[in-house]
Amino acid sequence: MKERTLSIVKPDAVAANSIGGMLGIFENGGLQVIASRMIRMDREKAEGFYAVHKERPFFGSLVDFMTEGPVLVSVLEGDNAIARHRELLGATNPEEADEGTVRKLYGTNIERNAGHGSDAPETSAFEIGYFFSNDELHSRGS
Ligand code: CMP
Repeated sequence: MKERTLSIVKPDAVAANSIGGMLGIFENGGLQVIASRMIRMDREKAEGFYAVHKERPFFGSLVDFMTEGPVLVSVLEGDNAIARHRELLGATNPEEADEGTVRKLYGTNIERNAGHGSDAPETSAFEIGYFFSNDELHSRGS
């Protein structure tokens, strides 16, 4: 099933010059970039994005991290894009991620883990709409 997912190259990976490496893994893994933009999130934007985690002990630190520098937000499209993208990202904790995955290659620890991907269709719709309008999504059809 064709799906869309929100992908973020986080500040650690942007700073490490890993944007191309990460997008290459996603493209070679069968996903298409249908929108992309580099932004610097302020605290309000990052807090809204991660609102589901606001009661977690790491929330403040996560917001510090996500606002420390620019990120690349992209929309990826493809068959089972949500699960496929998460597979290519690897486990949240880079220490537990499989060889060849984004987080194994580019992540540092469970917080500074290089990439974010939507985890379900409902979150993907919210997350894509949080950064992009419909007319910015350039689907290349089926
Ligand atoms: P992400 O996929 O963007 O979703 C939430 C983020 O919170 C996660 O990646 C990590 O960057 C961060 N995170 C998750 N668990 C922890 C944790 N135990 N400690 C610190 N940060 C975490």
